[in-house]
Amino acid sequence: MSGIRRDPCRAFQDLVDKYGDIVRIDISGQTFFVVNDPEMVEQVFVARQHNYGKTLNAKVAAMALGNGLLTNDGESWTRQRRTIQPLFARRQLDRFAENMITAARRRLTRWDARPDGARSEISAEINALTLDVTGQALFGCDLSDDAAHVHEALVEILRCVGKAMTSLLTWLPTRIPGVSPDLALRMQAPRWRRLDAAVAVLDDVVARLIRERQQHPQPDKHDLLGLLLDARDEAGAAAMSPRQVRDELVTFLLVGHDTTAYSLAWTLLLLSQHPEAREKLVAEIDAVLGDRQPTPADLDELPWTTAVIEESMRLYPPSWLIERQAVADDVLGGYAVPAGSTVYVASYLLHHDQKSWPNPEGFDPRRFLPEHRQFVFPAADGASPVARPRYSYLPFGAGQRQCIGLGFARIQAKLILAMLTQRYTFDLAPGARIVPEYTLTLRPQSGVPMIMRRRGAQAASRGVVS
Ligand code: HEM
Repeated sequence: MSGIRRDPCRAFQDLVDKYGDIVRIDISGQTFFVVNDPEMVEQVFVARQHNYGKTLNAKVAAMALGNGLLTNDGESWTRQRRTIQPLFARRQLDRFAENMITAARRRLTRWDARPDGARSEISAEINALTLDVTGQALFGCDLSDDAAHVHEALVEILRCVGKAMTSLLTWLPTRIPGVSPDLALRMQAPRWRRLDAAVAVLDDVVARLIRERQQHPQPDKHDLLGLLLDARDEAGAAAMSPRQVRDELVTFLLVGHDTTAYSLAWTLLLLSQHPEAREKLVAEIDAVLGDRQPTPADLDELPWTTAVIEESMRLYPPSWLIERQAVADDVLGGYAVPAGSTVYVASYLLHHDQKSWPNPEGFDPRRFLPEHRQFVFPAADGASPVARPRYSYLPFGAGQRQCIGLGFARIQAKLILAMLTQRYTFDLAPGARIVPEYTLTLRPQSGVPMIMRRRGAQAASRGVVS
């Protein structure tokens, strides 16, 4: 467990390398499984999904997010998901695309005011941009002035929650009769003081959004804030308590922007290290869009752009670990899984598995071109293509708990990458060393410092990822 704390991803990889695609770990009466086989993943997330609920760690995350969609479970989750799902229908996503384009334009205008070749911490910049998108699209307001302190709060929350998830101080006390998970968590006081302060920042933002909307209702706005505030039950009363509305808003404020931002930061880093892939990206965007603003209809005409983003999420899946808790006894890959066991599915390991992804550490967007994406690619010399297991790639999870924002995130990532590429070239700042940090999301620990040049400028030297 201490190895898991230090470097959780490496610890899981070592276990799988040593013991195979399912590993059972018993610690102080608690049973854990690490699963790294697409068929077993299908069993947990799809075929027997009703037997695998959220874990104690969802309760840890709930200390920040409350009972929002990500951490909720059971009937309350079903009701909330049904209420919120229509907001992410295709027609609505096209409307959100307008907000994405406006926010990207606004950020580009800010960048244009800087000297060419300026050094920027691109992960924070893109976080601010995707927060702006979340503000415009989901809350119908401008969050750009909140970007810096929301980002700081977010990083603190990810750190505190990530550490608590792998801490024995969280797990062990729950073995004592009468000690609830909440109490075990609250016993780690200093950590929670920092977390509470960070959550207070988000609470302030959300309280302000609710207040402003209640003072100035906007019946024509089809956004999350309106949907939650206006939801009615059969008797015509508010369908959600103020607390539930707060929890959903804080959840979407957080998960609605950070994962997409990290995925774009990793993408720009990979492109700066692979000039051929970047040249193809520029060529595609120039040919399809030239200098004009993209529209949602253009996105289907950008297969290389799509493939670059998908391959980046394969190498650096922002949600690198998904967990479930078995409700009743089950059997997985021949192993008895007792009720109450925790099952870890590390997307990161599945995405780096040689069996599904030859040359797994190599950045090769061709894997996600329409003609290759169903197959193990590249095929061995002279061999016919072999179908790639469906659950070998799960950046957005799978089954009923699959990411509700999947379509939103994919459109957002493509539009933003296309618009940034039209105007700028991003090169890793000389000497920069990027260290992946496995918190609740997989993020670059100290950001990604990049030199931004308006298109046509010289490429800078490349850095190193450890
Ligand atoms: C690249 C970007 C994104 C990635 C990689 C990502 C990944 C994921 C994953 C893996 C899950 C499933 C967690 C589980 O099964 O326990 C999830 C759930 C969720 N995501 Fe995303 N997400 C992204 C963007 C978004 C966006 C843009 C939104 C909102 C607009 C969003 C909202 C949510 C919510 C609310 C859930 C919980 C769904 C539920 O349990 O019903 N995500 N996400």
